[in-house]
Amino acid sequence: MSDRIEIPPTFPTVGDVRGKRVVLTGAGRGLGELLAHAFSRAGASVALVARTERDLKTVADTLPGPVLLFGGDVRDVAFNDAVADGTVEAWGGVDAWICNAGISPVVAGPLKTDPDVWRDVIDVNLTGAFLGARAAARVMTAGGRLIFTGSVLGERPARGLAAYSASKAGLVGMAKALALDLASAGITVNVVAPGWFDSPLAAGWKSNDRLERSILDHTALQRWGRPGDLAGAYLFLASAAADFLTGAVLNVDGGYLLK
Ligand SMILES: NC(=O)c1ccc[n+]([C@@H]2O[C@H](COP(=O)([O-])OP(=O)(O)OC[C@H]3O[C@@H](n4cnc5c(N)ncnc54)[C@H](OP(=O)(O)O)[C@@H]3O)[C@@H](O)[C@H]2O)c1
Repeated sequence: MSDRIEIPPTFPTVGDVRGKRVVLTGAGRGLGELLAHAFSRAGASVALVARTERDLKTVADTLPGPVLLFGGDVRDVAFNDAVADGTVEAWGGVDAWICNAGISPVVAGPLKTDPDVWRDVIDVNLTGAFLGARAAARVMTAGGRLIFTGSVLGERPARGLAAYSASKAGLVGMAKALALDLASAGITVNVVAPGWFDSPLAAGWKSNDRLERSILDHTALQRWGRPGDLAGAYLFLASAAADFLTGAVLNVDGGYLLK
């Protein structure tokens, strides 16, 4: 027997998502909009999800490939099931489901955090992702990919963001548990945790000089994330190159969590 590793005849192409059927939540603007472009340009069919249908149409109009639009709320069980069924009806299946919809309301300490705001953040960011994963798992009969958008704030919280940090830390625990639960169905579950990206959600932080300084001081690469920086991690996770990766967190953060 040879003591050399067996070299396969071919290797999967990293990020090859041609022909994949991808559901993408939070696709009306921000990071979701850019992921829609990245997947569509890479040859995937994308089913876009957000509450504001006008935004979805705007995004869809600029995409080169097949698109479906689903206007609704990720907190709604029946809506998630309708997205799954509608995608299967149109395209015959779902290969990847990216739970990216998220909110981050006004920063406040615990005494100033309205309990309803706390519930909203957990409902959208965590429960919404669970309901998406649940709907996806039902229709991914031939295996598939679940990808959650987490945040570096799930690992290193910032002041006044308890609900947001809890929701994103919760996503990591949930992804690991679901990775175990869904492995036998051939479904992998991973988290992409972006650092600080220039997007509408981060506008409040970017306009605060002190906060921006602290963000840049912590980010080893000393800059905000640019649109082109993020998509590679998602494309990788959705491609055959990531077949053996599950329960992982990819921090796309310019080294923010290093220091
Ligand atoms: N920007 C950053 O620097 C950064 C860093 C780390 C992590 N993240 C995470 O990345 C994700 C996207 O953030 P972003 O910066 O792109 O935010 P954004 O610009 O505010 O976009 C959020 C998207 O989610 C949708 N959405 C919000 N609540 C929803 C709901 N209940 N049901 C369905 N769709 C909903 C929004 O559309 P509607 O309001 O029309 O529904 C919108 O399309 C979030 O999970 C966020 O936590 C962002």
